[in-house]
Amino acid sequence: MSPDLPLNLADFEAAARERLSPQAWAYFSGAAADEHTLAANRSDWAAHRLLPRVLRPLSGSSTAINMGGLTLAHPIFLAPVACQRMAHPEGERATAMAAAAQGAGMILSSQSSVAVEAVAAAMAEPGAGPLWFQLYWQAQREATLALVRRAEAAGCQTLVLTVDAPVHGVRDRERRAGFEIPPGISAVHLAGLPPPPDSLTALLAAAPSWDDVAWLRQQTRLPLWLKGVLHADDARQAADSGCVDGLIISNHGGRTLDSTVSTAWALPRVAEALNGRLPLIVDGGIRRGTDVLKALALGAHAVAVGRPQVFALADDGAMGVARMLRLLRDEFAIALALCGCRSPDDVSRALLA
Ligand SMILES: Cc1cc2nc3c(=O)[nH]c(=O)nc-3n(C[C@H](O)[C@H](O)[C@H](O)COP(=O)(O)O)c2cc1C
Repeated sequence: MSPDLPLNLADFEAAARERLSPQAWAYFSGAAADEHTLAANRSDWAAHRLLPRVLRPLSGSSTAINMGGLTLAHPIFLAPVACQRMAHPEGERATAMAAAAQGAGMILSSQSSVAVEAVAAAMAEPGAGPLWFQLYWQAQREATLALVRRAEAAGCQTLVLTVDAPVHGVRDRERRAGFEIPPGISAVHLAGLPPPPDSLTALLAAAPSWDDVAWLRQQTRLPLWLKGVLHADDARQAADSGCVDGLIISNHGGRTLDSTVSTAWALPRVAEALNGRLPLIVDGGIRRGTDVLKALALGAHAVAVGRPQVFALADDGAMGVARMLRLLRDEFAIALALCGCRSPDDVSRALLA
């Protein structure tokens, strides 16, 4: 192996910084306002200390998980990240090929720059993880429904409604860099749908509510997850509603509201409030196999990574994303073994100091 290959996820980030235009770098790496949440997402995983067990039987080890009836080779998903053709000409299609090769679930953004049908075709491989579709609530129910029908027809297995971004965050870094989506790249699923309202008042009037979640539940047979929950009371309400099949504990990678709690802080509180009533995925700052293990110890069934996929994509297309996923999988397998766990099922809170 050449020593200059990326050895970890931070290496991909450093390489992407060299390759991307300053505008694309600001868009992909930046977050809202002073980026306190962005920093806390990283530092709060790092702050947890592992308390490993020794001399446990390790033969027959596996990273496989079972989540809501789904068996996956490992607990690592790709979080929805918009407009990936800004990182690489093949965009989400290349990311999907990598996800398929590594058995990772992929959650495709409704603001994808490649059509869901092409992404689904790229994931139609034996051993591929599932393809899920992320929804942003559209100002009209019919427009939201058009996205749902398209995702269903393409074979997506789950819908993920993002609920933490009724309005755009205050993105100082993007504005300072003069970021605009370059010509020739667009959110292809939104073409032909009514544009979002241009006044804040109209945008807020169209923001989704629990009633809209109940309506959405009636429209589709696909499992419905919510993404962007941090508060234990919202998690309880989601479980009580009977409309929701799972939650992604997320603060949008710090891109919407700055100075929120980190996801490492929110996760154990949500897990305790739910007591196993809904499966949980967590994202935000997951960069190491030990972060994956800590997330499982704090009550997540799986994790998702956002920025690392576009950094790896910018660096080396599908090969880059596949390598990024492989590195994280291998680090997770090593962390499991060094904590005395034969499988993710053996991970518990007792592994944290
Ligand atoms: C460039 C970029 C675009 C994103 N686009 C979306 C999106 O379209 N929909 C969504 O629900 N989340 C979106 N997210 C949030 C991610 O799904 C995820 O919550 C976040 O990136 C996780 O944090 P991490 O980047 O530290 O791994 C985006 C994040 C980034 C960095």
